[in-house]
Amino acid sequence: MPLSRRDFCHLLGAGAAAPAVLSRVGEANRGWRTDSLIRLDSNENPYGPSPAARAAMGAVLPEAGRYPGSQPLVTAIARENGVAEANVLLTVGATEGLGICARTCTGPAAPLVTGAPSYGAIATASEALGHPVIRVPLRGDGGLDLDLMARQAPGAGLVYLCNPNNPTGTLVLGPDLRRFIARVEATAPATTIVVGEAYHEYIETPGYESAVAEALRSPRVIVNRTFSKLYGLAGLRLGYLIAQEETLRRVAAQRVPLGASVVAIAAALAALADAPERERQRRLNTAGRKATERFCAERGWRFHVAHANYLFLDVGRDVTGLRAACQEQGLLIGRPYPPAVTWARITIGTPDEMERGLAILARVLQ
Ligand SMILES: Cc1ncc(COP(=O)(O)O)c(C=O)c1O
Repeated sequence: MPLSRRDFCHLLGAGAAAPAVLSRVGEANRGWRTDSLIRLDSNENPYGPSPAARAAMGAVLPEAGRYPGSQPLVTAIARENGVAEANVLLTVGATEGLGICARTCTGPAAPLVTGAPSYGAIATASEALGHPVIRVPLRGDGGLDLDLMARQAPGAGLVYLCNPNNPTGTLVLGPDLRRFIARVEATAPATTIVVGEAYHEYIETPGYESAVAEALRSPRVIVNRTFSKLYGLAGLRLGYLIAQEETLRRVAAQRVPLGASVVAIAAALAALADAPERERQRRLNTAGRKATERFCAERGWRFHVAHANYLFLDVGRDVTGLRAACQEQGLLIGRPYPPAVTWARITIGTPDEMERGLAILARVLQ
């Protein structure tokens, strides 16, 4: 069934004025890529940096001949999260945060415990060091199996709890998160827990709690965040860790010094200061995700209940082939996430991208 742009905007419930507004934002997002592929593959924010972030980047360019001073951003992040500056460590994207945790906390006899599938950068970093990785299969509903993960924790160097889990989009709610951390603390006294919160700013689900309070309480909990998702700054490579000061001192020894660029710092400062834009992005994404869920449900497609800017969809066939077929028609979807190789991860794009992208997907899946 073809889905018109009007249909999609109607599903969005965005009202008559929304399509023009949204496409204007989308046009402003044209970057250096000259192809016309619809990019629903990398969980990026389709609108890119906010107008305030763009202006701040432009204004700071003359300063780019100087080494960066990151203290104002550390102060802003600390204020935003209700922590002290000493609890914040800037990283080159959340990816560096995951890498330095792997380098600090895993070892030949101290494996990483992670979900399968879950976001892979921390497992990749551990395996690159020759350190073992214990992959714990997800539950049938796509959620992390916290019971099985906790049982694997004794003797492990690191447990990675990706919340919401990428690629499934499933969420661990506050009470379960706190129970899991307490259990690992009690049964695995040498194990550190990294909670991946790359999509924190998108989450509107009641009962969701960040692990920041746990990271302040326990020296063995680290929160991993990024400016790549809701803030639309993926190309600038900026993230941060929140943990106790002594915990950060240990992992900081592994990081790239002065890794946050002048331009990234300026953009992030502007993004953090713009609460209305954050709220607008959150609402746009939730509306887009709900409309996409309705589109999929109407076609009888199975998906996991998701909480961020992507949806994990049972396509009932090898996703590598499906991906190639979609790309031929101009649509990029997420890579395969073994062992769930018959599921596809679809990022929530603009209404226009979703209209065209879902039409391609429906055609390919026919
Ligand atoms: C859970 C999770 N953590 C980290 C990252 C990487 O973020 P960054 O771009 O900040 O390196 C991603 C990107 O998709 C992610 O999904």
